[in-house]
Amino acid sequence: MDLFSNIPSDGVSERIEELTRLIDKYNYEYYMNDRSLVSDYEFDKLLRELTDLERQYPELASPNSPTKRVGGEVNKTFRQVTHRFPMLSLGNTYSIEEIEEFESRTRKLLGDTLFSYTCELKYDGVAIGLTYRHGELVQAVTRGNGAVGDDITSNARTIKTIPLRLTGNYPDDFEARGEVVFPFNDFEAFNRQREADGDEPFANPRNAASGSLKLQDSSECAKRKLQFCMYFMMLPPNAADDPRLATHSGRLEAARTMGFKVQPYIKECCDISEIRQFIDYWDNERWNLPFAIDGIVIKVNQVALWDRLGLTAKSPRWAIAYKFKAQQVSTPLESISFQVGRTGIITPVANLKPVWLGGTTVKRATLVNADFIEKMDIREGDWLLVEKGGEIIPKIVGIDTDKRAAGARPVQYITNCPECGARLIRADGEAGHYCPNSDGCPPQIVGRLEHFVSRKAMNIDSLGSERLEMLYQKGLVVNVADLYSLKREQLVGLESYDEVGQRRAAIQDKGADNIIAAIEKSKDVPFERVLFALGIRYVGEVGAKKLARYFKNIDALMAADVEELAAVEDIGEKTAQFIYDYFHDEKHLQLIQRLKEAGLKMSVVESQLSSTLAGKTFVVSGVFANFSREEIKANIEQHGGKVSGSISGKTDYLLAGDKMGPEKRKKAEKLGVAIISEDEYLSMVQ
Ligand code: IVH
Repeated sequence: MDLFSNIPSDGVSERIEELTRLIDKYNYEYYMNDRSLVSDYEFDKLLRELTDLERQYPELASPNSPTKRVGGEVNKTFRQVTHRFPMLSLGNTYSIEEIEEFESRTRKLLGDTLFSYTCELKYDGVAIGLTYRHGELVQAVTRGNGAVGDDITSNARTIKTIPLRLTGNYPDDFEARGEVVFPFNDFEAFNRQREADGDEPFANPRNAASGSLKLQDSSECAKRKLQFCMYFMMLPPNAADDPRLATHSGRLEAARTMGFKVQPYIKECCDISEIRQFIDYWDNERWNLPFAIDGIVIKVNQVALWDRLGLTAKSPRWAIAYKFKAQQVSTPLESISFQVGRTGIITPVANLKPVWLGGTTVKRATLVNADFIEKMDIREGDWLLVEKGGEIIPKIVGIDTDKRAAGARPVQYITNCPECGARLIRADGEAGHYCPNSDGCPPQIVGRLEHFVSRKAMNIDSLGSERLEMLYQKGLVVNVADLYSLKREQLVGLESYDEVGQRRAAIQDKGADNIIAAIEKSKDVPFERVLFALGIRYVGEVGAKKLARYFKNIDALMAADVEELAAVEDIGEKTAQFIYDYFHDEKHLQLIQRLKEAGLKMSVVESQLSSTLAGKTFVVSGVFANFSREEIKANIEQHGGKVSGSISGKTDYLLAGDKMGPEKRKKAEKLGVAIISEDEYLSMVQ
């Protein structure tokens, strides 16, 4: 090894600085001002050059380098941090009268002093505090319980509207507080992708933002288009005599010049009528914003007055939040449709007379199940109360009984499946009905096929819903095993139709080749995913993994009784019974036999490569050049080693990849655990 390789040659640090400055500038213009100053190609080239230089000279890489925007650091748990200044909450109210009381109380307390208020949006996201020292972001912490929060710095660095380094004049040491939001459009696209991948969609942008900040792998967080809306600058006492910082609005204005994204919707108001106007305006206009808000925050603008007004037990007396009521309308129920899911579950859906609510036209809303309809006592032709709160999806919250017609009859629930005619079943204690005809009911059959090919299952991505539907209609594929008998000639020339009946282009030679190749490739998918792909009720990704690890192969799993199944971690009694029933159904036994014959993996591959690492426990952290993290863990096990999630006295090695968190290193050093690189690991096992 060249001993001098890490001493930068002339101009390297200058180049790093120049690249950083350029990329920061392009990022700023792109994310703050929607302006592209360079092509994507040029931008990527610069970023790659910087990444390469940082890899070559790690000692020159700043934790706030723009390369950190793509994430990479992995946190198993989040360090708990005590806030230097507690993150207070605000008194809040739904009543405008209480806002009037707040205003007159404040005026009385301040006597003759001249002052004003600021009115701004109350962002509906996740509150975080960002600490900046000497213009560099040093820490990002969630609000937590107000006193202690989670250190989410590596995830925060991936949010493009959080400046990593400040520009212009800034206080030397302060905290920027604000809300992380997930803009509606990005959130919807993200949720659609989740559904396509077979993941549960998030109920609203706030939950998705919160889940994103707690992702262990910051590169995953980087893919979500979160935004930071700054709403507060927390300065240590007597921190600055910058005149811009004497008012709240001045602070936010100044923050903008430092590189923060500060929303322009803030207004200085002098009296209650101006405050009311602002509230009324945004109560209607909020749906036209690109992100969710749930109210308006009113603050005394002059910072010097905050101390005079003081605090109550939990919140400052110089600010208050007005919360918007959920919007509600009533609209007639025109009819009810009954949808059949993959597992046969029936979901009733109300078809409503279209009505405008919170920025969109609502035409349909779920009626959940038969219990819901019974409890609400929904009658034919009823006017239903539809509400849109923080959630994007409208909810039915009640009935406008004043508008009920005399003698209106209770809604008749269906007794037979709307798709196949089979008599529905409602198991004891279950709120919903389901169609038992799993083999003859088209949406169930196609639903199972869709699940089987989905990304987290067999990942046959060249087969989308329309093609599966067509293959089913042509009688080519009825169950998942049929996929493995498909011939290229059967596919070429097949046409499909989209949801409005428009004919789509027929499958060409190349398309058919791709489908056959993807099906072939799926035979390499590991056992645990095959198990998940089968779509046994309540056996999700995690459950399938646990079952695969426990039983090792399908024969052992099929032979297990309910008790043994329920002994597996994460498998409850009910799921155990479903698994047992599944494997005691003759048609499933035949199906599995055919899948085995097709060559799918039906056991965990424990290809023992060696026993070099027998008795050694590893903790794996960071990003690797030759393996994904899962691959390197599997490799350790294949060499007889054990992998553990956290460092303890029992750990022998910390296998450190790129961008490993400093905490892990510290802990390993403290406990005297050997830290080895990927290359050192490879030489151990080779
Ligand atoms: S000011 C001491 N301004 O609402 C003042 N809070 O209880 C601290 N929030 O969880 C808060 N938008 O995260 C302020 N424009 C805004 C806000 C805002 C949303 C959140 C905040 C806190 C809650 C207030």
